[in-house]
Amino acid sequence: MEKTLTKNESEQNWEEFFKLDLNEKMDFYEREGKIYDCLFAQQLSKKLLDVLFDIADKLRKITKEKEGADYIASLLSHKRAMLYFVQPSTRTFLSFLNACHIMGMKTSEIRDSSTSSEVKGESHDDTVRTFSSYVDIIIMRHPKPGSAERTAWLLNKTNRPVPVINAGSGKDQHPTQALLDIYTLHRQFNGNIDGKRIVMVGDLKRGRTVRSLSYLMKNYKDISIDFVSPKEFKMERDILDFLKNHNIPYTETEDFASVMPQADAVYMTRIQDEHDNISGESKKVDYSPFYFKEEHLKIIKPSCILLHPLPRRFEIDAQADKDERAVYWRQERNGMWIRAALMAYIFGIEKKIK
Ligand code: NCD
Repeated sequence: MEKTLTKNESEQNWEEFFKLDLNEKMDFYEREGKIYDCLFAQQLSKKLLDVLFDIADKLRKITKEKEGADYIASLLSHKRAMLYFVQPSTRTFLSFLNACHIMGMKTSEIRDSSTSSEVKGESHDDTVRTFSSYVDIIIMRHPKPGSAERTAWLLNKTNRPVPVINAGSGKDQHPTQALLDIYTLHRQFNGNIDGKRIVMVGDLKRGRTVRSLSYLMKNYKDISIDFVSPKEFKMERDILDFLKNHNIPYTETEDFASVMPQADAVYMTRIQDEHDNISGESKKVDYSPFYFKEEHLKIIKPSCILLHPLPRRFEIDAQADKDERAVYWRQERNGMWIRAALMAYIFGIEKKIK
């Protein structure tokens, strides 16, 4: 029987564990050679991505007809999911909710910590432990970096662990967004992501989507990345080091137009002003050079695609929406299918999806 840790011992334990290199702790989030908790984009190997793409493609086809949709909805009808989203979300929440429903899962949700017992002073740890008493998987979005990992770490040491999916943790990671982004690239490029030049634009410092997507590039050959941002919001060192260690060439520039003509994909992001340390900090930055305007459609290649995790503000002119190369609405829908595929995989029923 495991010794119950006092609060201080437990904090110390977590701090030490949290600081470990990912390679050293990866096993802790796996069971029987498979991902159990989906927390970091680095967990997503090429082999796993291909499996998930295949499941998602099959789900789309099978569920077109009622008979197929009913069959798929029977596969996880014995499972319940908790959607714990205490940070604003439209698409990630809705796509996970609908992904659960496609798989026949029952769902419950908390969307604001002021409606949970956290308001009575219950700790985050006790709150998530409570969820695991009722459900079979926790899908969570939280403003604090490392929060999903903390939850998984905590539950994996209890006698009732359940898988945890990170649906966005502070400004550090958003692995399932990276999953839908890469699934979109895979579909748009007919399975050939190798050799592509990807341009990532905007608030790269605080945008968790571009951070997680950069990690996934390790799975492909001859990829190159151009990071375009104001000097205040450049990509962080840890990601640049990761790319160097994986021999993925990148450039950094403030001159968006200079990289447009060679791009195979342009990934736009919004300014993440919710992370301002001082209120109004972001307003001092002129973000307009990092907008994709209608006239830019003439500069990018006929085959270049335009992505955005959404929500957008002004970064992409709505006039661009009608262009065939603007794929962000498809990208958002891809999220639902790939998240359903992830759930099928985590619960090990992928072989029943034929
Ligand atoms: C992103 C997020 O929450 O990080 N949105 C999303 O999940 N689709 C991007 C953003 O909010 O800018």
